[in-house]
Amino acid sequence: MNLKKALVEILDERTIDKLVTSFDRIGEVIIIRIPEDAQAEQMHIAEALHTVYPKVRTIAAVPLHAQTDDRYRTRDLTVIWGDPSLETTYCERGCRYKADLKQVFLSPRLSYERMRIAEKVAPGETILNMFAGVGCFSILIAKLQLDATVYSVDVNPHAFSYLQENVALNRVEGRVIPVLGDAGDVAAELQGRIDRVLMPLPESAHAFLPAAVRALRLWRGGDAGDGTAGMIHYYAVARGRGERDLLTAPFARAEELIAAAFGDRIHVQREEQRIVRSVGPRKYHVVLDLRMTRER
Ligand SMILES: C[S@@+](CC[C@H](N)C(=O)[O-])C[C@H]1O[C@@H](n2cnc3c(N)ncnc32)[C@H](O)[C@@H]1O
Repeated sequence: MNLKKALVEILDERTIDKLVTSFDRIGEVIIIRIPEDAQAEQMHIAEALHTVYPKVRTIAAVPLHAQTDDRYRTRDLTVIWGDPSLETTYCERGCRYKADLKQVFLSPRLSYERMRIAEKVAPGETILNMFAGVGCFSILIAKLQLDATVYSVDVNPHAFSYLQENVALNRVEGRVIPVLGDAGDVAAELQGRIDRVLMPLPESAHAFLPAAVRALRLWRGGDAGDGTAGMIHYYAVARGRGERDLLTAPFARAEELIAAAFGDRIHVQREEQRIVRSVGPRKYHVVLDLRMTRER
C-alpha cells in the first residue's frame, strides 16, 4: 500500500499532498513534519506510516515551532510512535552511517550533493571537510577515491564519536581522519596543505571562508607562492527567487569576504553552482564550487 492510499480516509487531499513530501526515512526511523491542520491525526498518521513501512521502529515528529540548534544543527524531535531511541543505521550509496538523530545532524536529502562532490575528487588529493557531522561526505569520498585523505572536523562530540565509529564501520581508517574541534582552528593547523575544502554548513560557512582559503595549497612556497589552484565547495543560505538572488548574490558576498581578507592576491572563479534544496518560503541552501588561484 502507498502512503496516499493509507491516509485517504483520515485526511483531505491537500494535507496528504503536504505530508507525503514532509518526512524522511533514515534507517529504521521516520522523521515527519506534521502540518498544523493535521496535528489531531498524529497517531493515525504514525500508524499509516508504519503500515506502509513495516520495518520502521520509531516515528518522531518535528514539533510545530521546533528550534534548530545553531551550532550542532540538531532539531527538537518528539517520538510519537514506537521505540523511544533515535539511534539508527542509515545506508546511502553502499556506505553505512550510525547516528542518534537527536544528537547529530543527518539528512538523506543531501544524497545527490554528496555524490556530486565525491565524483570530483582526483587521486592523491588531501581534503578538509570543515563540518563533517557523522561522515556522510567524507566516507563516500574515501570509498570512491581510494587514494584521497579527508580530514573531517566537527565540534559536536556526539558527531565526532559517531564519525569515529562510522570510519571503522566502512573500513576507511587512515583515509578519513576524524578531528574533534572548531573548523577554524583545524584549518589554521592545516595551513597550505589542502587541495579541496568542503564547507557544508550553509548558515555560517561565510564566517570560515578566509580560514578555508588559508588551508589551501596556494600558500606553498611562502610569499612567492606557486600559483596552484585550490577548490572550495562553499554552501550558503540564499533568499529570494531567480538566479540573481539565489546564486549571484552569494557569490558576490563570497568574493567580498575574500577580497576583504586577501585583497587582490586571490582570484575566485565559480566553476559550478546549484540550488541544493528549499528550506523555507523563498529560502534555499545553495552551493558554489569556487576555484581559488593565487596571483603571483
Ligand atoms: C549541516 S551539518 C553537516 C554535517 C555533514 N556534513 C552531513 O552532510 O551530514 C553541520 C555540522 O557542522 C558542525 N559544526 C558547526 N559549527 C562548527 C565549527 N565551528 N567547527 C566544526 N564543526 C562545526 C555541526 O556540529 C554539524 O555536525
